[in-house]
Amino acid sequence: MPQPHLRTVVVLAAGEGKRMKSALPKVLHPLLGRTLLGHVLAAAAPLAADRTVVVVGHGAEQVRAHLAEIAPAATPVLQAEQLGTGHAVRIALDAVPEAAGTVVVLNGDVPLLRAETVAALVAAHEDAGAAATVLAAEVPDPTGLGRIVRDAAGRLEQIVEERDATPEQRALREINAGIYAFDAARLRDALGKLSTDNDQGEEYLTDVFGLLGSAGEPVAVHVAADHAETLGCNDRVELAALRRLLRDRVNQAWMRTGVSILDPETTWIDVTVAVDRDAVIDQNTQLRGGTVVGAEAVVGPDVTLIDTVVGPGATVLRSHAVGAEVGPGASVGPYAYLRPAAKLAEKAKVGTFVEVKNSEVGVGAKVPHLSYVGDATIGAKANIGAATIFVNYDGVNKHRTTVGEAAFVGCDTTLIAPVEVGPGAYVAAGSAITQDVPAGALGVTRAPQRSIDGWVARKRGGTASAEAAERVRRAAAEVAEDASADG
Ligand code: UD1
Ligand code: MG
Repeated sequence: MPQPHLRTVVVLAAGEGKRMKSALPKVLHPLLGRTLLGHVLAAAAPLAADRTVVVVGHGAEQVRAHLAEIAPAATPVLQAEQLGTGHAVRIALDAVPEAAGTVVVLNGDVPLLRAETVAALVAAHEDAGAAATVLAAEVPDPTGLGRIVRDAAGRLEQIVEERDATPEQRALREINAGIYAFDAARLRDALGKLSTDNDQGEEYLTDVFGLLGSAGEPVAVHVAADHAETLGCNDRVELAALRRLLRDRVNQAWMRTGVSILDPETTWIDVTVAVDRDAVIDQNTQLRGGTVVGAEAVVGPDVTLIDTVVGPGATVLRSHAVGAEVGPGASVGPYAYLRPAAKLAEKAKVGTFVEVKNSEVGVGAKVPHLSYVGDATIGAKANIGAATIFVNYDGVNKHRTTVGEAAFVGCDTTLIAPVEVGPGAYVAAGSAITQDVPAGALGVTRAPQRSIDGWVARKRGGTASAEAAERVRRAAAEVAEDASADG
């Protein structure tokens, strides 16, 4: 039986990314649901490496904190001074003396890299028993990148940085993607021999290839099928370009699984999102984080869903939701705001200009217009009238409100928590409810109405209102006169 390969992954993430001009280290910039570093780690994850080492430097504390969240098993290793990619790998391997077998090195700023491509690179490397294998790509514009220099027979001779290259080498369009597989022992040996004799005075990892090659060790090139995968990110313009490429890749993948995306250019779906068959995503929609959209749901236009679960057949139109659950067949918006722990049961409705937070809206219950629902439990089939406010906050504490099954709350009501409206109870429109309304009762707090005759003529004489009232008064008086004349 062949021995299982021992594998170590090393991610280089110590650089500052000067051209990002950011307080955030470059590798922590977000890109459709993951940081740049998160994407690279995800691409390496299927290798099932025995250990993962991440070289940190600039913003080390921030990068460590992020790693603790997304890859707690990874070992951060500090490179206090960025003396080059070769130096970084040397420090990484010093931290894991037990590492043997294959060492996979990935630049931390190559987020479009596919797991399949990394796996193919590693498989080619291990199958060939190579000392070192580099992922290369033929690109339209190689500016700034290391060039793959081959001999007459097409074998890798060396990798030359652009700034150290001859004009002939600069004309080459086959570039080093910054992704490699090495044999651990031979890599350690070569790293010990790196010089800093180059334009930047740095230890270049890429020089390992020339060193191993001239010592007669087998070095190889694995060419990526899609050069877009190898694109790095140096400034925010490039980051935006990567985001568009990834958007298209994600949208095309969902469309191929049976999701309708009506306007792919304005639909931004994080790589962490799941969408079920026959869902329809309309234009200007962002699906972020742990969002899940069920089969045949209709989402958009103009919707942002963050960590929100939308059930099958539900509809969400021109709305914003964070940490919410929308039940099967439920309806949201237009212009609703669902906040964390807003839970809409099956066929519930949350309509126009309604905000819901930390509340359950029961099966078939409706909150159709202009309401705030905070810290409430609304029973099945209850109807909450327009402009109802669940008054949950007393200035110090939050309190809960319960509205029972099939209760009816009239428009423009305040339910002042803690309070309970019983099952089947009614609340009269315009009430301010501070005491429980028993099941089946009518709660009403309105003052009886008075109409003060002639008030407008006395207090608002000469206004359009007074004139309108006066016309009605005269017409009524004429009718009365005619009636008495006839009689
Ligand atoms: C590197 C390659 C180049 C390749 C390109 C692909 C070298 C010498 N050159 O160039 O051939 O075409 O990547 O994008 O390797 N880093 C550290 N510590 C350091 C220096 C860098 O951790 O001391 C990290 C950076 O954070 C980055 C990665 O290594 O994630 C690559 O470094 P960068 O400075 O971007 O190298 P390039 O000049 O782009
Ligand atoms: Mg770079």
